[in-house]
Amino acid sequence: MPAEDDKSQKFNVKLIFAIIAAALGSGFQHGYHTGVINVPQEVLKEWLNETYQSSYGSYMDTSTLNLLWGLTTSIMNVGGTIGGLIVGVTANKLGPKGGLFFNNFLVLVATIFMGIAKPITSLEVMIVGRFFIGINCGLNAGLCPMYLSEVSPVSLRGAVSSVYQLVITISILIAQIVGLHYVLGNHTYWPYIFILPIFFAIFQVITLLFCTESPRYLIGVKGNEQKAEQSLKFLRMSDDVSADMTLMKSEDAAVKALPKITLSDMYKTRQLRIPLIIAVVIMLAQQFSGINAVIFYSTDTFEKAGLKGDNPKYATIGIGVVNVLMTIVSLYLVEVAGRKTLLLIGFGGMAIDTLLLSLTLYFADQNDFLPWVCIILTFIYIILFAAGAGSIPWFLVTEIFNQAARPTAVSLAVPTNWIANFIVTLTFPSIEALIGPFVFLIFVALDVVFFLFILKFVPETKNRTIDDIISEWK
Ligand SMILES: *[C@@H]1O[C@H](CO)[C@@H](O)[C@H](O)[C@H]1NC(C)=O
Repeated sequence: MPAEDDKSQKFNVKLIFAIIAAALGSGFQHGYHTGVINVPQEVLKEWLNETYQSSYGSYMDTSTLNLLWGLTTSIMNVGGTIGGLIVGVTANKLGPKGGLFFNNFLVLVATIFMGIAKPITSLEVMIVGRFFIGINCGLNAGLCPMYLSEVSPVSLRGAVSSVYQLVITISILIAQIVGLHYVLGNHTYWPYIFILPIFFAIFQVITLLFCTESPRYLIGVKGNEQKAEQSLKFLRMSDDVSADMTLMKSEDAAVKALPKITLSDMYKTRQLRIPLIIAVVIMLAQQFSGINAVIFYSTDTFEKAGLKGDNPKYATIGIGVVNVLMTIVSLYLVEVAGRKTLLLIGFGGMAIDTLLLSLTLYFADQNDFLPWVCIILTFIYIILFAAGAGSIPWFLVTEIFNQAARPTAVSLAVPTNWIANFIVTLTFPSIEALIGPFVFLIFVALDVVFFLFILKFVPETKNRTIDDIISEWK
C-alpha cells in the first residue's frame, strides 16, 4: 500500500480534469433530462394537445392527455433500463472512457429528434427522442461511476464516486431554472430546452479526448500493462506508479480467481438469496417512496396548493436547491449515523409526511394557511428522502455482496430501479386525475411496508466487513 502522505494518492490537476470530463458530461444529461420536463409542463402539455389535433383531427380529453404526458416523461425510463442492461457489454467492448465518449452519439440523435419535434409537429418524434436520451442516461449511470472509481486512488474512491450523484442533483436544478417561462419554458423557445444539452455532449467529447482510459480496464480486459502504466502516470502526475500498478494487478488477479455467480445460483443459495431480495426491495422502495411523484409534479402540487403566478415554479426550484444541499450533507450523514438508521428515519418520516400532505392538499382551498403547510411538507419530504433513501440504496447493494456476486446483483438492482421509476411516472398522472390528493395515500401505505421491511431485514453495514454481514444469513 502506498503511504498516506504519498502525493500520488491525492487530487491533482489531471485527475480533477478527468473527473470533470466524465461526471459533468454524463451526470448532466441524467439529471437535466430527469428534471427538465417538470417546470414547463403546461406549455408542453398544450403542445401535445395541439399536435395531437393536427395529426389526428381532434383534441385530447384529459385522460388521454394525462396518459400521453405520462408516456412522454416515463419513456426515458424504458430507455434507461435498456441502457442499464448494456452497461457491462459496452464497458467490456469500448472501455468505460470509450463507452462514455461514444455515448454522446445518442445525445446527438436524441437532440435532433427532440429539437425537430415542434417544427415538424410530431409528438411521436418527441417520444422517440426521450427514449434515446433514456438509453444514454442508463449507460451514463453505469459507466460514469465505474470510470470515476477506476481512475481514482483507493483512498479517494468513495468521495469521487459520489460526485456523479451530486452532478445529477445540480443538473436537475439547472433544468428547473431553464424551464422557467422567461428563460426557455415558453411556447416559442421550449425546443431550445432540449437542444441545450448538446453543448455538454460536445464538452465531454472534447475533454475526454485529453483523458486516458481507465487503467483497471487496460490491465483487466485489454491485458496491456504498458498502456495502463502510461494512464496511471497521467492520472497520478507521477513517474513512479509501481505501487498503484502492483495494487491493480493484485485486485485484478483476485477478481479473476473468483467463480462467476449467475442469478439462478444466487436464487438457490440462502446466503445470496436474502441479500438479493433486499437489493431488489430497496430499489423498489426508493422509487415507490413517491419521490418522482413529488419531483415531477411538484409545480402542479404547488398550484393545487393555491400558489399563484410564477410562485409554484420558484417553489419547485427551491426543492432543487434543498435536494443539492441535502445530497452534500448526506455524504457525511451516512458515515456518522449509519445506513439502516437513516433509511428508517427516511421511510418512517416520509410515510407521516405524505399522509399529512394528502390531507392538507385536500383541504387546501378552504384555508389561506394550509397551502403553506403543503409547501413546508414537500420540503421536509425532500430533506427526508435526500438524507438517506436517495443515495443509500445505490451503495447498500454493493455492500451486501462480495466481489463475486456483486456484478450480477448490481445488474439486476439497477434496471429494477429504472422500471419502478417508469411505473410511478407513467401511472401517477392518471391515478392523480382519478383520486386527486389521495394519490399520496398509496405512498403512505408503501412507505410503511418498506419501513417494516428495513426494520426486519436490512442489516446495518456501516463499519462492518462483508464477511461479518454475510454471516447474518447463514
Ligand atoms: C386541448 O385543447 C382544446 C382547444 O384549446 C381544449 O378545448 C381542450 O380542453 C384541451 N384538452 C385538454 C385535455 O386540456
